[in-house]
Amino acid sequence: MDEARTKAWQMLSLQPRATLATLFERDPGRVERLSGRIELGEGEGGGILFDWSKTHLTDALLDDFEALADLAGFEAMRARMFAGDIVNPTENRAAEHTALRGVGKDTSVEEAEALRERMRLLVHAVHEGGLGEVRHLIHIGIGGSALGPALAVDALARDLALVDVHVVSNIDGVALESAFAACDPATTLIAVASKTFTTIETMTNAASALKWLDDSGVPDPHGRVIALTAAPDRAVQWGVDETRILPFSESVGGRYSIWSSIGFPVTVAIGWEDFEAFLAGAATVDAHFRDTSGRANLCLRAAFADLYYARIRGAETRACFAYDQRLALLPDYLQQLEMESNGKSVTASGEAVDGPTAPITWGGVGTDAQHAVFQLLHQGTHLVPIDFIASIAPGDNLDPAHHRILLMNCFAQGAALMAGRVSEDPARSYPGDRPSATILCDDLDAATLGALIAFHEHRTFCNAVLMGINPFDQFGVELGKEIAGQIEKGGASFDPSTQALLKAAGLQR
Ligand code: F6P
Repeated sequence: MDEARTKAWQMLSLQPRATLATLFERDPGRVERLSGRIELGEGEGGGILFDWSKTHLTDALLDDFEALADLAGFEAMRARMFAGDIVNPTENRAAEHTALRGVGKDTSVEEAEALRERMRLLVHAVHEGGLGEVRHLIHIGIGGSALGPALAVDALARDLALVDVHVVSNIDGVALESAFAACDPATTLIAVASKTFTTIETMTNAASALKWLDDSGVPDPHGRVIALTAAPDRAVQWGVDETRILPFSESVGGRYSIWSSIGFPVTVAIGWEDFEAFLAGAATVDAHFRDTSGRANLCLRAAFADLYYARIRGAETRACFAYDQRLALLPDYLQQLEMESNGKSVTASGEAVDGPTAPITWGGVGTDAQHAVFQLLHQGTHLVPIDFIASIAPGDNLDPAHHRILLMNCFAQGAALMAGRVSEDPARSYPGDRPSATILCDDLDAATLGALIAFHEHRTFCNAVLMGINPFDQFGVELGKEIAGQIEKGGASFDPSTQALLKAAGLQR
């Protein structure tokens, strides 16, 4: 890390610290200046309000963070990402997920459009009966090949799924058996989603799904398989018909791939039009992110706050609580996005990082979490910056009291964490001054979900650039896979504890 950047971090750490209450007292315009909206356009969920006023960001901190962003070459890196340049140097790859939403290098956008048209035709065939009767889809993938589809289907296809979709990721056969139990093999399609088409969990589950179809007397089980992959040749070798392969580009990372053919189960469940709206919502955020400078850029502003807490105030975790049952899987999705992207110890050029990197992302759904983990957030010793996410429009048709109580609780938590309360009884005292941000959607439709995910992708990128790390590789996951492979092969010896465990489980003599 060069001297100027080290100095910039020092400047940030030297900024005076005022409580949130004091910051609000001093500055009546605080809410307005630290809130911003992204409009999604008519008929597309309205917009999203991003309120960062209950964080400790001040004008002085924002000035220093902007200076740091300049030193980190933030604008140039952002331009390089959108231009399709190599921004993932360790794998010599571009990161072109935005091209899938129509924002990026012309040739990549065109290629993505052609691949999307191929997917549209197949989805149309599924809906129109071209593949026989399809009532169920078992989507098999893991990590980035499963978390996005699981989130989007759960959020958007609750009432009205055109096809009943089950996402199976775990190698534990219990997961796949549950899907089998809910599906009629005669009317089930299997989507095998794997960027590499080599991941052992996915390939093992896919083989078992084929066997299930076969055992159930379904003629031509391979003909019931759709492959979603950046390695179409491997899918062909595995036995998938070429017409049933939906490829995507190698320059789309696994955890950024929901916009590609990995989104196939989403389109099957919610229909093509809504999938297009999902992409359009993300594209609106892309345009905001690409064209807005400094603190007005809401993704960058969020990253400033993230880094302030992680690096200056020593927060080791950051939590996201969705006050919306439809977003129950969002924390899982964000865990991979943020922790697999920025959980690194070296910079993009291989030097040791100069401070903590990604905090641990965790979270849950409100109001459930209030009755489980909020004790620690209000009175525990950890500093945990929180994001609250909610929708003004309800997702249910019950008595409006449900949604009113949900939203009131969401806002009450942010207020209580900040205000705290002093009591003579220490056990009943709340220290307060605990930061939170609120993301308030007008409605949670497909466009809004796309926008929310894109916001977090860009926020993650901003964090990475300011820390000098490469968010697009994930070598940390390889060693464990390798060792599992050695165990499978047999003959290798390990530490005494592992040897004893293998022996106890009957996996080695
Ligand atoms: O092991 C991590 C990982 O490589 C993720 O980055 C990825 O999303 C997941 O595995 C699945 O990989 P694939 O899509 O190639 O099966």
